[in-house]
Amino acid sequence: MWLLAVILPLLRVYFIGVKVLIYQLLHKPFTLPVLPRLNGRVAIVTGGAKGIGYETSRHLASLGMHVVIAGNKEEEGLKAVKKIQEESGHRKVEFMYLDLASLKSVRQFVQKYKARSLPLHTLVNNAGVMLVPERKTEDGFELHFGLNYLGHFLLTNLLLDVLRDSGQSGKCSRIVTVSSATHYGGQLNLNGLQGRSCYSSHGAYSQSKLALVLFTYHLQEQLWARGDPVTANAVDPGMVDTDLYQNLCAPAQLAKKPVAKLLFRTPAEGASTAVYAAAATELEGLGGLYLYNGQNKTSSASSYDKQLQEKLWTKSCAMVLLQET
Ligand SMILES: NC(=O)c1ccc[n+]([C@@H]2O[C@H](COP(=O)([O-])OP(=O)(O)OC[C@H]3O[C@@H](n4cnc5c(N)ncnc54)[C@H](OP(=O)(O)O)[C@@H]3O)[C@@H](O)[C@H]2O)c1
Ligand SMILES: *[C@@H]1O[C@H](CO)[C@@H](O)[C@H](O)[C@H]1NC(C)=O
Repeated sequence: MWLLAVILPLLRVYFIGVKVLIYQLLHKPFTLPVLPRLNGRVAIVTGGAKGIGYETSRHLASLGMHVVIAGNKEEEGLKAVKKIQEESGHRKVEFMYLDLASLKSVRQFVQKYKARSLPLHTLVNNAGVMLVPERKTEDGFELHFGLNYLGHFLLTNLLLDVLRDSGQSGKCSRIVTVSSATHYGGQLNLNGLQGRSCYSSHGAYSQSKLALVLFTYHLQEQLWARGDPVTANAVDPGMVDTDLYQNLCAPAQLAKKPVAKLLFRTPAEGASTAVYAAAATELEGLGGLYLYNGQNKTSSASSYDKQLQEKLWTKSCAMVLLQET
């Protein structure tokens, strides 16, 4: 039993990883189309201080957007802001504190953001952690689920009115959520979301990334039902050489190094699908997509399970004490 609960998710993650690497060996990274100028439009990028989030922030700023980097390390965030400002000569980049592992911090962030009466045209749910040993968030949720998924669930819901007010038909506001190919191996254990008897960090990460896809699809259904000028898509950046892999065990770390050099995407390449989802003209009005390498792909079968989407939504509302809409 223990073996199955711990080894199976690990094997699934490694199997998916190998598949992605073979794909990356055979395919060039996706080249972005010409993107429109987005002067005066505002974006929030969670985890925008480094890795894929940093490159996404940098690119959106270069299109003229006002970018808010939302992160939990002030010093690193301010450094990223300075770098982007110096490089682009663009002043409208800033840092705001947000700890996604704390629902209180998420609420405070939104309160502070709303107090400024800024519009919001793009929300990039990018921050995440991977393969962390068993740990809980401040609110007692398993860390991957709580931070990667639940924090973004609350953040998005609390910002939805601003997104709605900032969008218009033909110029929808956009929610871009960074998932991962590991979601294909993910299983949602609705009864064990607060932690499992047999903890698997691989299973926990995959589950959080599946939850983000289920969330994106259900959210889009609601947005369409209400006629809100907001679209929501999930993106898969591929395997990208970032600090996300810092929790790999030592031998895996060692094996990863040469492989990463040869086959991983750079953070800028990894960011391109998120940038595409955030800015491309051809995606105007399109939502509920799973984008990989700049293309609409089919996500896992369970991610389309409407009942599961609804159950997760209801449960998430209860977990973050949000009234269901
Ligand atoms: N790299 C890949 O191969 C890959 C593949 C598939 C999907 N992804 C996804 O891509 C996204 C970005 O990851 P990355 O590869 O760019 O890794 P990364 O360089 O480690 O970036 C993760 C970002 O999330 C932030 N973060 C972590 N905990 C946070 C918290 N409690 N509150 C707010 N922000 C927090 C980090 O900030 P601090 O470290 O400063 O706290 C960092 O800015 C993640 O969602 C990841 O799951 C990556
Ligand atoms: C995107 O892909 C999904 C699943 O393959 C498909 O059902 C949907 O029609 C596609 N949408 C667009 C806009 O291409």
